[in-house]
Formats: sequence, structure tokens, C-alpha cells
Amino acid sequence: MQNFDYMTPTRLIFGKGVVEKLPQVMAQFGNRILLTYGGGSIKKIGLYQKVHELLRGCEIVELSGIQPNPKYDPSVLEGVRLCKEHKIDVILSVGGGSVLDCSKAIAAGACYDGDPWDLISYKVKAQAALPIVDIITLAATGSEYDCGGVISRTETNDKIGYIDRHLFPLVSFLDPTYTFTVNRKQTAAGIADAMNHTMEQYFVEDATLLNDGFCESMLRSLMVNGRKCLENPEDYTARAEMMLACTYGCNGILALGNSPSGWPCHGIEHALSAYYDITHGEGLAIITPRWMQHILNERTLSRFVKYGINVFGIDASLDKWEIASKAIEETYKFFESIGIPMHLREVGIDESRIGEMAHHIAVNEGLENAYAPLTEKDIAEIITASL
Ligand code: NZQ
Ligand code: ZN
Repeated sequence: MQNFDYMTPTRLIFGKGVVEKLPQVMAQFGNRILLTYGGGSIKKIGLYQKVHELLRGCEIVELSGIQPNPKYDPSVLEGVRLCKEHKIDVILSVGGGSVLDCSKAIAAGACYDGDPWDLISYKVKAQAALPIVDIITLAATGSEYDCGGVISRTETNDKIGYIDRHLFPLVSFLDPTYTFTVNRKQTAAGIADAMNHTMEQYFVEDATLLNDGFCESMLRSLMVNGRKCLENPEDYTARAEMMLACTYGCNGILALGNSPSGWPCHGIEHALSAYYDITHGEGLAIITPRWMQHILNERTLSRFVKYGINVFGIDASLDKWEIASKAIEETYKFFESIGIPMHLREVGIDESRIGEMAHHIAVNEGLENAYAPLTEKDIAEIITASL
């Protein structure tokens, strides 16, 4: 078991109707609020109106139109400008992971005098950030419980996972009823994202029995409850369990004491969505089984065997290689069964930029240090196999 130094300072307030506590929560941070949101889903579900009602008397400045795969320009830059101009005390992010990730970058940029890209690109370390409170409306990223934000810069094809301890939300409101309206495509992408977060932490050299059990249970829960959410989008219990599983997915709690993973599928997917603006969870679902196939060898075999038996219930008496192959096939079949397009061509990606993307990933993502090290050639082969 490896050493670790871990803290998650985020207060989680979970359940139906918990947003009623918003006024008392916000009061501790100040009166001038930057309200951030996306393309309008929060208006359709009545949450925008509810937030204004609850925060009557506060000074609210708005930043709307934050897109999926949130963009540095204009969203982060505009948000930082608004914070400085209006001397904002606290950011309230209402929406999915993209809105929250953008809000995190704004929170750090607002406390920095130079170009916020200095922080996101790790040229300068953040010394502070504005407090962040969020109401998460989509179960997927786990951004509500971690200190990362993923920001895209279109002109350079960069999509950077910006991680800094100042970026933890201080309070996250999780009301599963707000996720009832998430459509099939985004629900399936959320299931795939959280499942892949778990797999990224499961496929490592040195793992504990404790973490393996936690991860295997996460994967089973996400498959069972994810399917129920697709069958009946207003199944509260299923939406609630999926939401909590997603929240656990990305803040490292599943991997305490494990050896590092390198998060290879994320390294590859971030480039795909940087170059082609695809949906993150779909990109992951497409890449995952091809990555598994690529890294399956004598050294990794035992992890696939354990995964196959404990997650999919594959007969443990079968030959080990057969169990591993079946496990990869089951992974593919599950994603396909929840309606995810399983080929890159179906999401608009062809072979024309594979070399360029593989080079970008090899230079920027450090995957030569992953659990199963990946060279530029390996990365290109995985993407090619995913076409
Ligand atoms: O923009 P609006 O109108 O709000 O619509 C959104 C958006 O179109 C919609 N939506 C959100 N809540 C809804 C809803 N529609 C109906 N009802 C609701 N309740 O869903 C669409 C997608 O939203 P988005 O926020 O982009 O999805 P998600 O939460 O999956 O976030 C994806 C982003 O997070 C990054 C991804 O790379 C991607 O940029 N990630 C962030 C991580 C983190 N911070 O820890 C880790 C992840 O691995 C991931 O990389
Ligand atoms: Zn992810």
C-alpha cells in the first residue's frame, strides 16, 4: 500500500429539496454572487427562477452560455472580468460539469493579476481562488467533489485538466430530481464517464482489496442504476444512487493507497474532444474497450480476470484469457446497450488527424508513465482501432 496525503474539504448536501438551504449557505460567503450557467436547461427545469427567488436581496451578476467542453475564450475570460469588475464574493455554479469546471477556472483567475491561462497551463501556481458553491444538475463528472476543471482552448486544440487544491467547491448541492430531465444521450454519457473514472483507478499495479471492492461495487451500481435511469428517467432511487456514484468517481477516494494509473483513457479522450468537440463520456466509452484490448498481456491479465469475475459475474473456472476477453466484450456490449455510438466515425472523427492527435497526447499527457505505458504509436493504434 502506497503513502498518501488526502483531503476533500467539500460539504455535500444531498437529497430532494435541499436547495432550500441555499440562502443560509451563501450568506457565509458574501452578498455579491456570480451566477454561472449553461445554455438554458436550468431555466427549463425551473431552477434558475428558484435560485433567484431564494437569493432575493443578494447582488447577482450572471454569466450564461457556458458550453459543454467549456471554452477559455470567451467563458473563462468573461467570468474573470465580471468577478473583478463587480468585486464578486462567491461563485454559484448551476448546471453540469462544464459549468462547474469553467467556474473553477474563473474562481482562480479572479484572484490572479495576469492571464488566467498562466494558471490553467501550470505556468503559475494559484495562490487563492474565490469560494465556489454549486448545484449540480447532471450526474457524470464528479466535479462537485473534486478540485479539477477541464478547460478547452480552441485555437491550440488544448483541453487541459486543471487541478489545484484551491478549486474544491466549498459546498455542493445534489438534488437527484434535477437530473430527471437529463436526456438519454447525456445520461448514457454520464454513466460511461463515471464508469471510466472507476476503471482508471482500478487498472493499476498495486491495488488494495478495499479499493477493488469499492470500485467493483461502483461499476455494478452504475450499470444497474444507469439502466434504470434510462428506462424511467424519473426513478428517484436510481437517479440518486447514480448521482452519488458519480460524485465518488473523480476525487481520488477510490484509489487511496493504490499505485498511480496515469488515467490513459482520459488522456486520449481529452484530445479527441479538443480536436472534435465530442461528448466526453461517449469518447471514453468508445476508447475504453480498445484500450483494454491493447494493454491486455501477461502482466495485466490478472486485473482483467478479477474485473471480469467480480463486475460481470463471468465463470471463474474458465481459462484466464477467455475471462479477460469476455470481460472486454461485456464492457463494449454494455456501452452499446445504453445507446452509445461505439465508433469514432459515428461522432464525426476519421483517420485524417490521428497522427497529429497521437503526437499531441504523447507530448502532453505523460502516458509513458501509465500503468500500461503508452507510446505515441500505441496511442495512434488505440485511436485507429476505435474508428
Ligand atoms: O448547457 P445546458 O443548457 O445547461 O445543457 C447541458 C448540456 O447541453 C445539459 N444539461 C445539464 N443538466 C441538465 C441538462 N439538460 C437537461 N436537464 C438537466 N438537468 O447537458 C449537456 C452537457 O452538459 P455538460 O456540463 O457538458 O456535461 P458533463 O457534466 O458531462 O460535463 C462534461 C465536461 O466535464 C469534463 C469533461 O471533459 C467535459 O468538458 N470533465 C470534468 C471532470 C472534473 N471536473 O473532474 C472530470 C471528467 O473526467 C471530465 O473530463
Ligand atoms: Zn471523465
